[in-house]
Amino acid sequence: MIKAVTGTKDILPSDIPKWKHLESVVQTIFKNFNYSEIRTPIFEETVLFARGIGEETDIVGKEMYTFLDKGQTSITLKPEMTASVVRAFIEHSLASKQPLYKLYYISPMFRQERPQAGRLRQFHQFGVEAIGSESPILDAEIIQIAYDILRRLGLKDLLVKINSLGIPESRENYKKELRHFLNDKKNKLSEDSQKRFDTNILRVFDSKIETDQELLKGAPILLDYLDEESKIYFNIVRNILREADIPFEIDTKLVRGLDYYAKTTFEIISGKVGSQNALCGGGRYDLLAEQLEGKPTPGVGFAAGIERILLACENEKTLSLPEEKLDFYIVTVGENLIEKVYNAASILRRRNFSVEFDYLDRSAKAQMREANKLNARFVIFFGGDEYSNGYFSLKNMQTGEQKQFPLEDLKTIVIE
Ligand code: HAM
Repeated sequence: MIKAVTGTKDILPSDIPKWKHLESVVQTIFKNFNYSEIRTPIFEETVLFARGIGEETDIVGKEMYTFLDKGQTSITLKPEMTASVVRAFIEHSLASKQPLYKLYYISPMFRQERPQAGRLRQFHQFGVEAIGSESPILDAEIIQIAYDILRRLGLKDLLVKINSLGIPESRENYKKELRHFLNDKKNKLSEDSQKRFDTNILRVFDSKIETDQELLKGAPILLDYLDEESKIYFNIVRNILREADIPFEIDTKLVRGLDYYAKTTFEIISGKVGSQNALCGGGRYDLLAEQLEGKPTPGVGFAAGIERILLACENEKTLSLPEEKLDFYIVTVGENLIEKVYNAASILRRRNFSVEFDYLDRSAKAQMREANKLNARFVIFFGGDEYSNGYFSLKNMQTGEQKQFPLEDLKTIVIE
């Protein structure tokens, strides 16, 4: 049997209401904050991600779906959207049209990670990118958007973690100190962390291995090395978050797995989804546009994993969705009237009602069962003498009330 590729998932009709509900909450909140949608291609030239996300990151080093197309161009299925959105921003000279763009997206992403609960190879993100302003208000705003969405979905077991990575110069000073601190412990670090020691030492903090975390105890603290400007900036972000009633914790080890961040970083963690517990993450990336050969343009954003959020909603039992309803189900009684029924359904469907009938030649009783299963609000009965005399019956499934109408009333009938 041919099955879906490992790490990919079908979203079946029974799952769709949850997805639609999430998407409508997300879209409502994006609209409230005046963000506009952007859609970019599913694949890009590999160099975009290599340069944007960073050659030494796990995403670029190990996880990308990369292939040569027929023109021998190296292509990669997008593992995230920030680099693509900034590419589009530069390519279409959006900066010349308006100074600040507040953009959002909902899209599949691809990363060849080891699949487990909450970790897929094709997964879906929604996210925002606010490009064109250095204001700390936007850092707080995007954290609030993420938090408000998760709360609106009913999630309670949430922890907002924030940190500041400062500007590159202060970070370099800090990296020196950290290297100095870990230097004589290096051999005891896990193999992965030893590699990170050489390539991107901050990411040693991301290690899930206990001995690595032991060795990091007493390590110098990034926030102590922040430059004055970043310190003031971080204070403002924290004050706005307090004003907006967003509970948060400072996590000085939150370095994130993508290289484009400077200043603010944040994640929101769920206590209900197991080890893959980051529901969303993001931060400020003021240098990314330059790295992609654009004019210096500050930006800040976040992305959230839809599958993980839905898992958290399931585990916190937050989703009680209204049942889908059908306006009319047409039950045929007696002789085969399929063409007449089809015609009646068409009249009603063209008047924008949702209508279903039986395609499987089932008994009237089975058709009624189906009408109930589909939550039909009204059942139309076609057949027998009534139909021959030019009438149909209409049953209100809520009140049980049943009335007769002439067939031509299908063109005018109104239901409340
Ligand atoms: P990220 O932390 O790599 O950030 O991903 C954001 C979210 O996507 C994660 O918190 C997680 O919920 C979800 N996610 C990531 N990988 C997987 C996976 N393999 N399976 C399921 N869910 C996953 C970014 O992507 C940045 N572009 C965020 C950003 C936007 N920063 C600034 N602007």
